[in-house]
Amino acid sequence: MKPRLKKAFHVGKPNIPNKEKLLSKFSEVLENEWLTNNGPLVQEFEHKIKQYLGVKHCICVCNATIGLELLQRALDLQGEVIIPSFTFISTANSLRWQKIRPVFCDIKEDTHLIDTDLIEELITEKTSAILAVPIWGQPCNYPVLEKIAKKYSLKLIFDSAHAFGCKSGDVFIGGFGDAEVFSFHATKAFSSGEGGAITTNSDELAEKLRYMRNFGFDGFDKTVRLGTNAKMSEFAAAYGLVSIDELQSVINHNAEIYKGYIKQFSQFNEIEILKYSEHDYSNHQYAVAHVQANYRDNLVQHFHNNNILVRRYFYPGCHRLEPYKSDHSYNNTQLPNTENVASKVIVLPTGYQLDKKGMKKIFDVYASFLEQKK
Ligand SMILES: Cc1ncc(COP(=O)(O)O)c(C=O)c1O
Repeated sequence: MKPRLKKAFHVGKPNIPNKEKLLSKFSEVLENEWLTNNGPLVQEFEHKIKQYLGVKHCICVCNATIGLELLQRALDLQGEVIIPSFTFISTANSLRWQKIRPVFCDIKEDTHLIDTDLIEELITEKTSAILAVPIWGQPCNYPVLEKIAKKYSLKLIFDSAHAFGCKSGDVFIGGFGDAEVFSFHATKAFSSGEGGAITTNSDELAEKLRYMRNFGFDGFDKTVRLGTNAKMSEFAAAYGLVSIDELQSVINHNAEIYKGYIKQFSQFNEIEILKYSEHDYSNHQYAVAHVQANYRDNLVQHFHNNNILVRRYFYPGCHRLEPYKSDHSYNNTQLPNTENVASKVIVLPTGYQLDKKGMKKIFDVYASFLEQKK
């Protein structure tokens, strides 16, 4: 039986790389008879990522969520960490899982990035770090974040799950702050099925992370610190190695889709595509639109009825999801921009699934919604 979603256009549909190359890389794993535990393909993948991003160290992990947890432990974060609420729940949960309190900061309405003007007032004596998110692959305000982190002696880390292949000016995202964490989940423009990586320019941190991702082992019988199992398998690395060679083609394809959305939707007043800065470089994984909050959910339903699975990311904001929602200590959290943005965002499909015909279907379905709404 064909998978049910095959015919739908949906946000996050995988861009499967060349199947022959994939199968050949998978058979390399089998021939090596080395399936995990820092195998040759993981090492090759890490090397390739380091070179691609121009960063000193890359530590591949099983997914970004565990990568964030590992990093927080390696940096000995405690108490409170300031994060945006307009992000995927795992940014917040990676902290809470380790009994660190996420302190939610509001975002800028136009970019959806953490509002750096609001960070200082959230800093207390318990604050140990700022964990910012280059949301939709847009660079954060790195100079300001670095200045605040330095002023208060805080660690600065990034959940860069969306941002592989993106640049701030001419500089690849991956080397900012103490470290950054990428996701290579199936939904991402660059994927290894499941997977992720921590990148850093710190030798000491990288060494710690390598031990910690492998139970703390140094050799067969000796452990040097507390560790867990955060390893990437050889199959994931094989997938990632084939994907990385095709990344530019995925980015180019998505850049065309982005231009197409801007052009086509510009004829409608009621929808506005979030524009990426021309001074930076985007992987165009996400095509994000603002529509009116009062009919956003009906529009989403209309798209779904027509087999176009748009999404309401990151609705309703982490602070309004469990376990934070019923935690009374968050009762005073006021995040007007987060709530406003979460009520009006829709994310549109991108990726190889879409060609001109597919895009036309999306516009036609949108136009039919406007007709129906009259
Ligand atoms: C902002 C953000 N952080 C973290 C994650 C978690 O990534 P992973 O699925 O690799 O754990 C995601 C996944 O989509 C994400 O969007």
